[in-house]
Amino acid sequence: MSSPVTLINGTRERGDVSPHRDVKNHMLFEVSTEAANRVGGIYSVIKSKAPVTTAEYGDRYTLIGPLNRASAAVEVEPLTPSNPELAQSIANMRDRGIGLLYGRWLIDGAPRILLIDTTTGYRFLDEWKADLWNTAGIPIPPEDGETNEAVVFGYLVTWFLGEFVSHEKKRAIVANFHEWLAGVALPLLKKRKIDITTIFTTHATLLGRYLCAGSVDFYNNLQYFDVDHEAGQRGIYHRYCIERAAAHAADVFTTVSNITAYESEHLLKRKPDGVCPNGLNVKKFSAMHEFQNLHQQSKEKIHDFVRGHFYGHNDFDPENTLYFFTAGRYEYRNKGVDMFIESLARLNHRLKVSGSKTTVVAFIIMPAQTRSLSVEALKGQAVIKSLRDTVSSIEREVGKRIFEQALKWHEGDETPENKDLLSSTDRVMLRRRMFAMKRNTLPPIVTHNMVNDGEDLVLNQIRRVQLFNQPSDRVKIIFHPEFINAESPILPMAYEDFVRGTHMGVFASYYEPWGYTPAECTVMGVPSITTNLSGFGCYMEELLDNSKDYGIYIVDRRTKGVDDSVNQLADCMFEFASKSKRQRINQRNRTERLSDLLDWKRMGLEYVKARQLALRRTYPASFDDDYEDFENIFESMEPKLSRPFSVPGSPRNRSGMMTPGDFATLQEGKEGLSTEDYIAWKLPEEEEPDDYAFPL
Ligand code: UDP
Ligand code: G6P
Ligand code: GLC
Repeated sequence: MSSPVTLINGTRERGDVSPHRDVKNHMLFEVSTEAANRVGGIYSVIKSKAPVTTAEYGDRYTLIGPLNRASAAVEVEPLTPSNPELAQSIANMRDRGIGLLYGRWLIDGAPRILLIDTTTGYRFLDEWKADLWNTAGIPIPPEDGETNEAVVFGYLVTWFLGEFVSHEKKRAIVANFHEWLAGVALPLLKKRKIDITTIFTTHATLLGRYLCAGSVDFYNNLQYFDVDHEAGQRGIYHRYCIERAAAHAADVFTTVSNITAYESEHLLKRKPDGVCPNGLNVKKFSAMHEFQNLHQQSKEKIHDFVRGHFYGHNDFDPENTLYFFTAGRYEYRNKGVDMFIESLARLNHRLKVSGSKTTVVAFIIMPAQTRSLSVEALKGQAVIKSLRDTVSSIEREVGKRIFEQALKWHEGDETPENKDLLSSTDRVMLRRRMFAMKRNTLPPIVTHNMVNDGEDLVLNQIRRVQLFNQPSDRVKIIFHPEFINAESPILPMAYEDFVRGTHMGVFASYYEPWGYTPAECTVMGVPSITTNLSGFGCYMEELLDNSKDYGIYIVDRRTKGVDDSVNQLADCMFEFASKSKRQRINQRNRTERLSDLLDWKRMGLEYVKARQLALRRTYPASFDDDYEDFENIFESMEPKLSRPFSVPGSPRNRSGMMTPGDFATLQEGKEGLSTEDYIAWKLPEEEEPDDYAFPL
């Protein structure tokens, strides 16, 4: 079967739009299933971008997502819509029995948000599925709940936008859809000729994610995959059709990095019009080194956890301990956890043979199916807390005794002696606490009871390399199969605080369209390791000549064999572990200086361009010669990064260059993103087949 998207491919018929819509004061809707609903990085995109978008649009900006009651209850404050067209559209849908929550998302920028209760649309599911088949030729099997949800959401969004357009007759409307889960509306809007202009931003391709998760030599074969066949084999043909239809139906198609642009061209068969790289909402502290103090404070909290976790085995010195971590959704191979663990084993060996005094505690933060926290993990924190409480109470008693003895002191008397200070009760209590810390087993690897302990890929790889937290190991491992959260009884910290307290993030991804986790490290001044197969890694490699000096280590997973990449990763970690404290502090300062490069104030310009392009494509008549658009913004823009004090070289001099996504045009009249723009992503033809050097 050939892909059905040919049915809806092609340019918009210009007769279906009003030529007189006001493009300057256009309305913007941004549609995503992660609006006010944390799943992964797309939530981070939308949330962190909100301040610059609301600064630009004010109340002309509204996010749309499916209603998730649990997260909406804490993240969204209900409001009565002040915009009459919006109010009317919402009222009309409510009259037809559709549940909608309109409000303010309680985040920086406080954008308006419309959450649609998809459960109220399921009664139309069969009808809509039939319609999707008839209009776009997309077949939806009955048993795929996630896709059913995408269909219902897509139809409800189309319904809402159709309503809105019929009430709002003056202003142009831009709708930016993120990822295939929000993509069903795109072919529908096009087929129904709704007077609106659309952008589809994909943050990955479904096929890319699936192919990479298996043992496929993805990057050498991108051009050659039989996409329909591959999608069919993996049971995702219908999902793939939605994604491909969305990419083709959108007026403007964008993605988050060059590497994903290349992948989209081959797997979705449309060249993106440009790249919109991800930014962050960078907060500057008034005191320059405040982030260093925060590192120290957060590190103390991690020390507390580690002392509990390793009770009875605290034979390594916190001052000589480094915290490394990796974090993300549980995509074992795509997120490079296989490579991370293998490299940790090699690092362990190298630290041992070099006689290093440094201990590395490596955290793996990846949500897996668990039953509960393990008794050992809870006990560890409890015994340390009891010890601390007992020592505090002894401290107070000893203080009182010293005070009393000092009061009675006369010239010639002895000063209070140690032996007199601890009472026999104190000694007994202390011994009790110390006995409670005796343990016949090694400190555990995992903090939770796993549902599939014996089959878990992370645990099996750790077993294979035998990193069992032995006293002689210089690398210890803690697998925390749940996202970090401040309510945890064992490691009560917000994720951001946890990252600040660590020394280094390691993200050895094989498939990573962007990769927020290392970018987040960077703005917090935490060095990180990434790869040249991640959008972020490539972006930084392009921008910095000497990225390592800035604490951005980039492992080559593109041109090297697996074993060499593992060694390179181990080298980076060993090099870092050999730094002195002073060197680490200096490097953190340099890392933090890269923040401006990742700020949405700079990165957001690509979204501005994408919206302008969409408007120009759909409403060309509204743009006269005097129209001032985003090009003026670029004139005032120069990269702000200053040179580090102590390191020669600096990010490549890019004055005169336009914007973060300068490799893409995102401008009408110029060719779309051309293959030459990202030709660098093509691999040498005669690469060795990718032999996986260690079992998965
Ligand atoms: N994250 C989190 N808590 C954790 C670990 C990760 O909130 O304990 C967030 C992290 O801040 C990041 C996101 O998960 O913003 C992962 O995004 P990324 O782009 O790295 O990967 P994705 O999951 O989108 O593939
Ligand atoms: C920050 C703090 C210093 C502290 C240092 C520890 O820079 O301001 O007071 O000594 O962190 O660095 P380390 O790399 O050893 O965690
Ligand atoms: C996706 C990608 C990730 C990216 C995120 C935000 O989920 O896996 O690499 O950072 O979207 O664009």
